[in-house]
Amino acid sequence: MSTKQAGANSTRYSLLEDVGALAGGLTRISTPAFVYDEAVLDQLLTHADRLRQEDRCQVLFAIKSFSFSDALKLMAPRLDGFAVSSLFEAKLAQKANTGGGTLHITAPGLRNDEVEEIGSLCDYVSFNSLSQWDMYRDRIKDRASCGLRVNPQLSFLDDERYDPCRPASKLGVPLEDLVSAFHDDPARLAGVRGILFHSNCDSPDFGELLSTVRHLYSSAGSILENLDWINLGGGYLFEDGQNLSGLHQALDFLKSRLDVDVFFEPGSALIRAAGYIVSTVLDVFPSEGSMVAVLDTSINHMPEVFEYDFEPDVVGHDDDAPHKYLLAGCTCLAGDIFGEYRLPDPLKVGDKVIFNNAGSYTMTKAHVFNGIGLPSVYALTAQGEFVHKSTFTFDQYAARWGLGPHAAV
Ligand SMILES: Cc1ncc(COP(=O)(O)O)c(C=O)c1O
Repeated sequence: MSTKQAGANSTRYSLLEDVGALAGGLTRISTPAFVYDEAVLDQLLTHADRLRQEDRCQVLFAIKSFSFSDALKLMAPRLDGFAVSSLFEAKLAQKANTGGGTLHITAPGLRNDEVEEIGSLCDYVSFNSLSQWDMYRDRIKDRASCGLRVNPQLSFLDDERYDPCRPASKLGVPLEDLVSAFHDDPARLAGVRGILFHSNCDSPDFGELLSTVRHLYSSAGSILENLDWINLGGGYLFEDGQNLSGLHQALDFLKSRLDVDVFFEPGSALIRAAGYIVSTVLDVFPSEGSMVAVLDTSINHMPEVFEYDFEPDVVGHDDDAPHKYLLAGCTCLAGDIFGEYRLPDPLKVGDKVIFNNAGSYTMTKAHVFNGIGLPSVYALTAQGEFVHKSTFTFDQYAARWGLGPHAAV
């Protein structure tokens, strides 16, 4: 099992975990379903308030982790804006940005034909490389505050698959190159108003953020002194009662030395605990000593299960429970397996299996391999009602393959 989810699963707020109380509603929803829980979302947003630290930093939400527009509209008034990674995300975020916050973009490869539109939609643009800076900054600099994504070259992750500071990283200007560029050719970098770094993944330790900030300042303090803003990226988790002293110290460190606006742009931390995949058991059968339960969902609805090789949480699983099942997805991929789980009661066809802590990087990465449609989306209101938001239709599927008026290929 990968460490990617480590530390991610201790938040337990869920209404859905009280499945008994919601049983009626659950039987009426069409599965597979992605459910976002508005009450949990509300609690997660209180963390954003704690992070702001008396307005010493502004909290954005990185919509790459979760992009459902009704939920973004709900979140917007509690946020200082959104962080996006493409023109499409920028357009979506702008429509959901009911709170009047700012839009921030960074992407490894901005496209020549999108630069002006990105500049008109986004308030802050962090170019990923010096060459993209050279190519595009003059076309954007009068519309948006421009800066650079920096790779601090200080790694905290053992697994390179999700380490933005991995060797030869494509993510950001290596800190040493930034320092030499400012030294060798300051005119080239005239107009850099800020820097963004995003250098961690699912870390519960804000001490690592503090180390990164100190490291940046000790290597590039004179550069930072001339900036208007610093964006600390995402990559950190925060939960009730979590020690935020590393974050406080990082903000103290920056604010006591620099006259900059500080942005923080978490994704997972603000949404993971608020989302569930609800599935129905389609079949149960023995296979060489194991009981296999095939669900009407697939790991393609939670692709990080496969990408990062971890077992997602399942409501009701208990290491000591008597009934053991291999929970499997319904595609032809042999490895479409969620994992081995123990449940208190035997599973039968028609039962519901619920994956909790599934709010981040599920729907935004989900795909339709084998023609298995994307989950329907429901909001679970604070009153315990499931409100239907969308259903993936055959027409949407067919359009991808060149059929119908909205054909994409
Ligand atoms: C630039 C940037 N900002 C923010 C995030 C959000 O990270 P997380 O969801 O881990 O908080 C990411 C994730 O990849 C990112 O690349």
